[in-house]
Amino acid sequence: MSWTFFFDYVTITFLPVDFLLGIVPYNSSIMDQRIDKAAALANAAMYNSEHIKKYVHGAPHVKHAALRKMYGRMVADRYNYATHYFSVPRILDLGAGEGSATRQFLDLGAKVMAVDISNDQLILLRKQCVNYGDRLETRCEAVVEALRSLQRDGKQFDIVVANSFLHHIPDYLELIRLTGGVIAPHGQFFSFQDPLRYDSLSKATYAFSILAYFCWRIFQGDIIGGIRRRIRRSKGIYITGSMEDDAEYHVGRNGVDQEAIQKLFSELKFDCLIVKYFSTQSPFWQKIGSQLRIKNSFGIIAKKIN
Ligand SMILES: C[S@@+](CC[C@H](N)C(=O)[O-])C[C@H]1O[C@@H](n2cnc3c(N)ncnc32)[C@H](O)[C@@H]1O
Repeated sequence: MSWTFFFDYVTITFLPVDFLLGIVPYNSSIMDQRIDKAAALANAAMYNSEHIKKYVHGAPHVKHAALRKMYGRMVADRYNYATHYFSVPRILDLGAGEGSATRQFLDLGAKVMAVDISNDQLILLRKQCVNYGDRLETRCEAVVEALRSLQRDGKQFDIVVANSFLHHIPDYLELIRLTGGVIAPHGQFFSFQDPLRYDSLSKATYAFSILAYFCWRIFQGDIIGGIRRRIRRSKGIYITGSMEDDAEYHVGRNGVDQEAIQKLFSELKFDCLIVKYFSTQSPFWQKIGSQLRIKNSFGIIAKKIN
């Protein structure tokens, strides 16, 4: 983290007035909770109403057939593995969204609890999954609260899914730690579609990813606003209350740290595999990037060692 980033982000946006005046000592856990809350609220706003239409258009893993196929294969593998131990696998889908990703688990025969902070997203999800009856349960809640209450109630799941989700959560390592408390013996954690940590990419991969994104972004409107935000962020300035900064939290910052995640899973006694692949919004660049075998995104398959 640069010092400019630290100064602007922390002092302008989050530090309590009492702390700035020297009245109370700075409490980092309160800060973390505020950052989480701001991001959660931004996500609730971003994923309600008209933003949903834009979502599929901008979501490579839902939009591109090749990525849907790759995701479908991974879902089937996770499900088959789970059926070695559980006759009807219980899935907890975190940040389930409008249901395209959740539905595949229901299609295979699993029971799913879908958690999302956006009620509009859950309405769409229920519409999409209307035929699965009582195999689907939904909870409109921030995931951290949902995980804490599920753990308190002693609930266990055979697969915890976090698709295209970790990059929305400021402290995703803490979130993963919390999932450890609800994953049953022989259970799994599975995620797909997060950006690899940017400073772990080669310069060529990073440049290619940015080029592919800009070639798509230029046709999506609000060009001036987009350029302004990018210049601001390049100086390390992030604004709480900016939906764009808070919603896709780590996309605007340094991506998601796949190495830290792998290390954490090994501490939690999981076998963890990071699956790397290419993803971008434009169909044309998606094809080129995949053919060149560039990798800028990742999924996680983590199995609990018993
Ligand atoms: C990019 S979408 C992914 C949706 C779906 N999993 C998929 O793969 O298509 C992220 C979802 O996470 C939800 N979300 C973001 N932050 C959340 C939070 N703190 N708690 C619960 N849901 C959250 C959003 O409302 C949105 O539906």
